[in-house]
Amino acid sequence: MTQRPILIAPSLLAADFSRLGQEASAVAAAGADWLHLDVMDGHFVPNISFGPAIIKAIRKHCALPFDVHLMIEPADPYLAAFADAGADHISVHVEAGPHLHRSLQTINGLGKVAGVAINPATPVDSIASVLDMIGCVIVMTVNPGFGGQSFIASQLPRIAAIRQMINQSGRDIRITIDGGITPETAPRAIEAGADVLVAGTSVYAKQNYAAAIEALRPATDA
Ligand code: DX5
Ligand code: ZN
Repeated sequence: MTQRPILIAPSLLAADFSRLGQEASAVAAAGADWLHLDVMDGHFVPNISFGPAIIKAIRKHCALPFDVHLMIEPADPYLAAFADAGADHISVHVEAGPHLHRSLQTINGLGKVAGVAINPATPVDSIASVLDMIGCVIVMTVNPGFGGQSFIASQLPRIAAIRQMINQSGRDIRITIDGGITPETAPRAIEAGADVLVAGTSVYAKQNYAAAIEALRPATDA
């Protein structure tokens, strides 16, 4: 399967929250491609993380593209705040509201790359009608809400189905895989068609971030 270079997006959720600015700049220096920012509201998911004010503060410390993953319901009232905070990509969950198309319209209208995220039990067809509005799809390989969970391997054929759907559409859309990515699971996700790897624990729990990031890249991309 022909693919572009694989991008590595460390998730700040697994960083030291007392030093977020330094933690963001450290992965940039260590060779990360994007910074993944997990926003959780204690309602759509059973955990609370951080919001636009924190992202705005981190923005000054890190020039990487900010890949903002909203696990909040509703999302629409906050989209402008995340754009103002410095998000480059804003992804909303298919399951987080009845008006996915409106959310994506709003994100595009704010001049940001729109993305959709889908939970492990959500049909892949749920994104078929919005492919013309998005630049990325986040396929969850854990149930959202927490870092450090185990990779759900049953998502692999779903990644392949989404890759096929995207190829047939002829559109330039990345597939981001999110949850339980390690040097062991990453090649399986890439083989299925993913081209962005979110990695929280497998980067930030390590002493050497550069080595941890390199360990996730396919040898040909290193
Ligand atoms: C989970 C988040 C993930 C999480 C991944 O809801 O969307 O981005 O940080 O963490 P790890 O890589 O530890 O599974
Ligand atoms: Zn995420």
